[in-house]
Amino acid sequence: MTEFNPSNIIVTGGAGFIGSNFAHWVADNKPGVHVTVLDALTYAGNRENLDGIPEGRMTFVHGDICDADLVDRLFSEADACVHFAAESHNDNSIADPAPFVRTNVEGTFTLLEAARRHGTRFHHISTDEVYGDLALDDPARFTKAASDLLVRAWHRTYGVAATISNCSNNYGPRQHVEKFIPRQITNVLSGIRPKLYGDGLNVRDWIHTEDHSSAVWAILERGRIGETYLIGADGERNNIDVLRAILEEMGQGPDDFDWVRDRPGHDRRYAIDSTKLRRELGWRPARTDFAEGLRDTIAWYRDNPGWWQGAKEATEAKYAAQGQ
Ligand code: NAD
Ligand code: DAU
Repeated sequence: MTEFNPSNIIVTGGAGFIGSNFAHWVADNKPGVHVTVLDALTYAGNRENLDGIPEGRMTFVHGDICDADLVDRLFSEADACVHFAAESHNDNSIADPAPFVRTNVEGTFTLLEAARRHGTRFHHISTDEVYGDLALDDPARFTKAASDLLVRAWHRTYGVAATISNCSNNYGPRQHVEKFIPRQITNVLSGIRPKLYGDGLNVRDWIHTEDHSSAVWAILERGRIGETYLIGADGERNNIDVLRAILEEMGQGPDDFDWVRDRPGHDRRYAIDSTKLRRELGWRPARTDFAEGLRDTIAWYRDNPGWWQGAKEATEAKYAAQGQ
């Protein structure tokens, strides 16, 4: 197997949750690699997320992945792109889908065209959601590499050296307070009762964001071009169990939360089978102790109120207007 050893990578969406954790991971673990973060700093992006990465290891570019000229210039100077930039929140996609189509479709198209022109290695970050959902009692897990069609087409038709990964739900530091785990932690810290959708039995397959980063690197370095890899850490849990674990860790009672209106079209269950990634590339998750990961995440939000307090009020106002 030939390894790909990039020295200058573009990380789109690197000021968001998973992208910034990936940029830190690269700075901590890959001393020869320079990261160029391209991020539009939407409501979900925060320049501070990159604080602590030494100068000289990273360049921050404030810009849009739909800006073809900018993207072309950056691709002419890099040997790989890891593409995290996206509109990522499901509740927002229901209220206003337009930015999702623009960034996720047009933006990915713009990047692929630049990768095609410059022969840039391209890794596309996708999600387990593209496979739809499972019934609670379904013994099957996602094993088939259905994939993000645009990236596949650019690989197949134009020979772009692309890989795709579909990961399950991430948790860890610097996740926006609109998402489930940070919303509940910051609710408790703000004296607001946590909010559970529907019957609370929806299942998500949780992975610590550091494990997502190491998996992405393994694919970038050793993944087979044209392949799709599923990333997961066997972390299936239903929402009420996750919420009660947060409540217990934060000294609250098991019923100290409100039931709220369900999300329309709420996917019942996600579950990832990451056997291919483990067998082919020898990847293993390291942070599989969920209780410990949750404790660290709670501690991070407790220690960094300045990071989330600004977004909290607006986020809760939006949810309140939706009855959630
Ligand atoms: P996020 O919303 O926290 O961050 C997205 C980042 O992209 C932000 O910094 C934002 O400013 C930037 N961005 C948005 N539109 C842009 C544009 N047009 N140009 C440049 N930058 C733009 O998202 P996240 O949770 O870190 O997710 C990152 C990726 O990982 C997404 O593709 C998401 O689908 C995927 N993913 C997320 C999860 C999860 O649990 N959060 C799980 C699997 C896959
Ligand atoms: O599986 C990957 C996906 O995970 C990614 O593609 C998305 O970008 C990411 O946001 C996430 O999507 P989910 O919809 O699963 O995550 P979210 O944090 O929004 O919700 C997790 C579960 O918790 C879901 O079943 C809805 C529920 N929920 C969410 C919120 C915000 C609640 O019960 N209460 C809440 O307040």
